[in-house]
Amino acid sequence: MNTQSSELQRTVEALTQSGRGLLAADESGPTIAKRFKSINVESTEETRRAWRTLLLSTPGLGEYVSGVILYEETLGQCADDGEPLPQLAARQGIVPGIKVDKGKIPLAHASGDEITQGLDGLGERLERYKAQGARFAKWRAVYNVSECLPSRLAIAANADALARYAAICQEAGVVPIVEPEVLMDGAHSIERCAQVSEAVFHEVFHALHRHAVVLEHMLLKPSMVVAGKEHPSPASVAEAASQTVTVLGRTVPPAVAGIFFLSGGQSPEEATAHLDAINRTGRRPWPLSFSYGRALQEPPLKIWRGQAANVSEAQRALSKRARLNSAASLGRYDAKEESTS
Ligand code: 13P
Repeated sequence: MNTQSSELQRTVEALTQSGRGLLAADESGPTIAKRFKSINVESTEETRRAWRTLLLSTPGLGEYVSGVILYEETLGQCADDGEPLPQLAARQGIVPGIKVDKGKIPLAHASGDEITQGLDGLGERLERYKAQGARFAKWRAVYNVSECLPSRLAIAANADALARYAAICQEAGVVPIVEPEVLMDGAHSIERCAQVSEAVFHEVFHALHRHAVVLEHMLLKPSMVVAGKEHPSPASVAEAASQTVTVLGRTVPPAVAGIFFLSGGQSPEEATAHLDAINRTGRRPWPLSFSYGRALQEPPLKIWRGQAANVSEAQRALSKRARLNSAASLGRYDAKEESTS
């Protein structure tokens, strides 16, 4: 194994430890502003620093969380005592990672579809992020769902961008997380979500192969197969788990080091129940864990409300969600524990 390959291997092993998952704390400026607005907190460099310090300094978080996805700004911020936040994460046994895409824009000649940008200069940016402590990266592609969306063009173009990003990361010795998100927005059925997810994941792995991405040295962050939020009858937890495992089984090679789901707008309890059911289902050649943003952050955010006096209680709420999701990643979640603190 050459140096770069053993570096990637070490990071993958640190991230995929049994019973641990990832915390996504990489909201862009507009997204974090939206989350803060829900608790009447203005988004400033200082409030973002305070919130993310709260998350990363949660006592014992490293027991359940192996990696954290940060936003560029956070890589350069420090806790109150002057310790850089990536270093604080690493001290908790949590590998720091970085979101590297530059968000989505409309895809030309494909009305209703979107494409993610940020490939130009990515190699140089990765060198900088690595010097600041990042060991893995994330790129999110987004697929809107309707009767006719996403188009073949959107599926192909996003797959190619994801694969180019992943190849550039591996050359830089940074483990890529490949995130194709089939959105829950809309009234589509779970069957339609399964159909779109299968086409999307299939195309992503074709592209990864074309770009010679080493599957053992990457992680997949997919959406689960669920009905659209406005669909009149949501599928049962068991149905969503079964369809998710079926679609992943048809499209994701066993060589992939791990699958870490996004929560995508599910409630915290739903996201945990789904992960647990998935881990109690059939044939699964990869570790299946969580890489949740909202499903981990929502309960502590509601408690914090920007007040220093609420920090400890908010940290307890984060710790509880992380612990329950850790149990779910092993198929050992007990919903009765929701009522304990
Ligand atoms: P959610 O779990 O809130 O979907 O966030 C995960 C993420 O990283 C989205 O890119």
